[in-house]
Amino acid sequence: MNKVKILAIETSCDETAAAVIGDEGGFPQVLSNIVSSQIDIHAQYGGVVPEVAARAHIEDILPIITEALKEAKTELNQLSHLAVTFGPGLIGSLVVGVETAKGISAATGIPVVPINHLEGHIYANFLKEPGTEVQAPSFPILALLVSGGHTLLIYVKNHLDYLIVGQTWDDAAGEAFDKAAKAMGLPYPGGPIISKLAQKGNEARFKFPIVDLTPSPARNEEGFLEHPEPSLDFSFSGLKTALIGQVKKIIVENGRLSEKDKQDLSASFEKTVVDTVAQNTLRAIKKYQPKSFILSGGVAANQRLREQLQKWVKDEGVEVFVPDLDFCTDNAAMIGAAAYFHIKENKIATFDSANPNARL
Ligand code: KG4
Ligand code: ZN
Repeated sequence: MNKVKILAIETSCDETAAAVIGDEGGFPQVLSNIVSSQIDIHAQYGGVVPEVAARAHIEDILPIITEALKEAKTELNQLSHLAVTFGPGLIGSLVVGVETAKGISAATGIPVVPINHLEGHIYANFLKEPGTEVQAPSFPILALLVSGGHTLLIYVKNHLDYLIVGQTWDDAAGEAFDKAAKAMGLPYPGGPIISKLAQKGNEARFKFPIVDLTPSPARNEEGFLEHPEPSLDFSFSGLKTALIGQVKKIIVENGRLSEKDKQDLSASFEKTVVDTVAQNTLRAIKKYQPKSFILSGGVAANQRLREQLQKWVKDEGVEVFVPDLDFCTDNAAMIGAAAYFHIKENKIATFDSANPNARL
């Protein structure tokens, strides 16, 4: 097989991204990774507006691809494959990436590898940057994916072999940060600003619930109490409601939230999210006994989550992998990395269109 060189495209939400991925010693190597974030556009509306996102992707996609190819000193005819996120995500956004990839493929004959966005987040941990040694996670892997749209615990037995073992019943972890910020009158996206405020806050001032979805013990036919297995699922809507309740109480009492109130609310909120995520992660580690643990998704940028999970999971004797910040939030290099392993394993799916509800 000729050397693999992939142009990867990602437009599932509010980042227009393109990357060129090469092949270095059996690992996907980042030759360029260009991301144009639409955060400034959406911040004025307090969240991502799908129609606005789709239009911005249309404007940005070709310049971003051109930049990615230029930075990687690569011409289209030097590529072996194209890769594109086909879902899950916002349909109007996904379509822009998918149709662009198909258009380039039709004009050049280069095959397209369709990639599930969630796979991309997992494979961010296999990327090699030039001049660095890659130490890849060993299988089986437990992956925690925490982003604005997803909160998933995934058991990865081997390459491309996934089992979802925990998921959220309502809001995603990043969505909880975004909604909490909105409730405190803070801008979108909520995660970075809440973690900044939390650094100066008193996490003990408010007590928020750490949700445990394990069913209560029940009596079996012989009348003995049976304890169900601890749940690995998440729910963040109760936490959001608890925070909104506190905000309203403070406003009734004092007329407004002071800077100190915001700091303390942020610290207590962040601590609760981290403890909730850690509770289920440690349960999954005990149950599945993985060799490696990987943390990914936009919320993996949270310093407290990174530090605490790294410590607690290492204490269980499991190797921990967390991608660089640039590869935690949405990017195309991770999509290229997932495509790289689909190509190596000779498992390239055919597809006709974007799928906003694609499953792993
Ligand atoms: O993975 P991502 O870039 O996009 C999705 O696929 O959703 O994740 C974006 C999410 C947002 O909800 C944002 O608030 C959250 O990641 N986030 C953070 C932090 N930085 C970004 N959450 C907590 N702490 C952070 N430092
Ligand atoms: Zn994502």
